[in-house]
Amino acid sequence: MISEAQKSTFLVVGNWKMNGSRESLGQFVNGLPKKAPVGCRRVVCLPSILIPFGQETFENHTVEIGAQTCNAERFGALTGEISAEMLAENGVSWVIVGHSERRDGFSETDADVLGKAAAVHRAGMNAIICVGEQQEDRASGRHLDVILQQVERSLPKSAASENTVIAYEPVWAIGSGESASEDQIFEAHAAIDTWLKENARPLPVLYGGSVKPESASNIAKIQHVSGFLVGGASLDPSSFQGIIKSSVEIVH
Ligand code: PGA
Repeated sequence: MISEAQKSTFLVVGNWKMNGSRESLGQFVNGLPKKAPVGCRRVVCLPSILIPFGQETFENHTVEIGAQTCNAERFGALTGEISAEMLAENGVSWVIVGHSERRDGFSETDADVLGKAAAVHRAGMNAIICVGEQQEDRASGRHLDVILQQVERSLPKSAASENTVIAYEPVWAIGSGESASEDQIFEAHAAIDTWLKENARPLPVLYGGSVKPESASNIAKIQHVSGFLVGGASLDPSSFQGIIKSSVEIVH
């Protein structure tokens, strides 16, 4: 759970997607400073099979372990699936739900995302609920409607600032090498923040989509950006650390 003191911290979450091995995780841990800088919380979302090894390997580091999805059910005849309770039992404290690669590649709907986020809370963990528009939504000027509809439909009743963050990830920026512009990020984050406050559910909002050490400080400065969800650049300890360092220098 996210304590009062931790709410003011900048959250940097790495999403390893289907990458990594015991060997590369060992190298990553060796290359990462043991302590997170003051004012920053570090999370690494690993492929499920690497989670127990990650738990051991990060033992002396202030890094929290995350997963990239879960099933909404507690148990059952669901071949290949993993429940939130199984993740929690293995030391996971954060779970990404509704990543665009799950929404697009595995046909996950907002209702699925809501069910998964509720399961994450049921198991006592924190949910990172991803939202973001496609390029065509932006081209047609509907991007804010699309984003806010996803927020509204993906948030379970159990979501509160102690257990949930939203990650705004424009789908067209993910893995493209180019993050959204500062104006685009500000517009989306301000709209999400306003919606959350109007609906009495103020939550931190992270930005994701090609965040790199070179772009991190300018994005971290933008109002309503409370952290980052980092894909490609989180696989390398020096670029992950570079992102952390430049964000923390700006925010504090
Ligand atoms: P990226 O991925 O940083 O490689 O663009 C972000 C994400 O998919 O969460």
